[in-house]
Amino acid sequence: MGRVGLGLAVGCAVVTCAIAAALVSRSVRRRRRWGQAVALVRELEVACDTPVGRLRQVVDAMAVEMHAGLASDGGSKLKMLLTFIDNLPDGTEEGTYYALDLGGTNFRVLRVQLGGKGSMILSHKVESQPIPQELMTGTSEELFNFIASILKRFVQSENDGFQQLPDDRKDLGFTFSFPVKQLSISSGVLIKWTKGFSIEDAVGKDIAQCLNEAMTKIGLNMRVAALVNDTVGTLALGHYNDEDTVAAVIIGTGTNACYLERTDAIIKCQGLLTNSGAMVVNMEWGNFWSSHLPRTSYDIALDDESPNRNEQGFEKMISGMYLGDIVRRVLYRMAEESDIFLDPAKNLSVPFILRTPLMANMHDDDSPDLTEVGRVLEEHLKISRVPLKVRRLIVRVCDIVTRRASRLAAAGIVGMLKKTGRDGSGGVASGRTRGKPRRTVVVVEGGLYIGYTMFKQYLNEAISEILGDEVAPYVLLKVSEDGSGIGAALLAAVYSSNR
Ligand code: BGC
Repeated sequence: MGRVGLGLAVGCAVVTCAIAAALVSRSVRRRRRWGQAVALVRELEVACDTPVGRLRQVVDAMAVEMHAGLASDGGSKLKMLLTFIDNLPDGTEEGTYYALDLGGTNFRVLRVQLGGKGSMILSHKVESQPIPQELMTGTSEELFNFIASILKRFVQSENDGFQQLPDDRKDLGFTFSFPVKQLSISSGVLIKWTKGFSIEDAVGKDIAQCLNEAMTKIGLNMRVAALVNDTVGTLALGHYNDEDTVAAVIIGTGTNACYLERTDAIIKCQGLLTNSGAMVVNMEWGNFWSSHLPRTSYDIALDDESPNRNEQGFEKMISGMYLGDIVRRVLYRMAEESDIFLDPAKNLSVPFILRTPLMANMHDDDSPDLTEVGRVLEEHLKISRVPLKVRRLIVRVCDIVTRRASRLAAAGIVGMLKKTGRDGSGGVASGRTRGKPRRTVVVVEGGLYIGYTMFKQYLNEAISEILGDEVAPYVLLKVSEDGSGIGAALLAAVYSSNR
């Protein structure tokens, strides 16, 4: 080989080595990045861990806070609001009643026809529509004019054989799913907004009066007979169907619970007398907080950037408004720090772009190559060509976030059972009849529990885990649909002036 040949051979060898070195280093870098992404997920898993011991601490904290909230106004982050509902529907209600249900992503108008003893609900009609975004942050007049106009249209479309009330004026149940300090069954002032609503001039106003005025203005001869929280409507329908129902929980856009409490346990209203000796209490548990809640840096950032910082802490870990955004924050950090996506993942920086129903679809995807995960990433986040192992990691993130949420909600439910002596923890006071725990029904409503398979499964599992084999069979979680609205119509019937 001549000098030239030798030079060429050496040159080729150098280039080959350089290419090999570059490939090796790229693969090492890639492996390191993948390792970083896995480590991030592992870190999240540890931070979100909810072993049963921790859940029991949350149960105890919930029960303690319930006591504190019942002892004095401002005694706890749990407001424990009085509802003035001491009688739940029992099946004897009769007539046609309307309801409006405002508070989640959708707004509903309902008409319910009740047949009286034995015949129960003869029929019901529901019309649902999304709330225009601009109305969620406008003025109270705009909001109430809008809902009164939709109600009027609905009432005018009555041509399907529903009976009219003998008296022309119709009674309305108004489900308003925000914290309200009730003044009576049919009036109450808004304490604050949650779930992205922010209509400043409505805070401190009597919500029922706002609606009554809007209805009068538009020529609708209707009055709010019952102003209720969605949990309360759900409890009313649950109790109507099964009298062992003692509590209702909503896990949808927001989360909350209400239950039947003995009036003598409501210390902040000493001397409160009701015919039944009990009253429904709206806990507003979305605002619950305890140092036992497993909080991560993602939760802290979400809270810091929210319009209601330091409020609704429990809700921000559990409900549909937030879960998707927690996952988005984790994925964004993974994209920034470990560069696992081939495409630039710019959309991940957009708050709330990953809505919880999309996250649920990814999590519930059981196809071998995670097609749905790929579709959501491509169509909604504009990230394509995501390798299967990355898609699997994303599903794991959804799993961690949802598992924590559902298990915390389960602990909240058991906390409520503990407060009312139905968790089997304390002998006779624990609601046992002849040595056996009492049958206890909790109705659950909301898209997360109804429409998200893994959420429901984890929640049910956690309830059994916390309660144990002896008590768990006596606690039934029943799904409710449209209960918040139908229940409000039932309560309008119970408290109707026409009755
Ligand atoms: C509200 C509650 C409501 C819950 C579920 C929360 O944000 O404060 O009043 O019951 O959402 O809709």
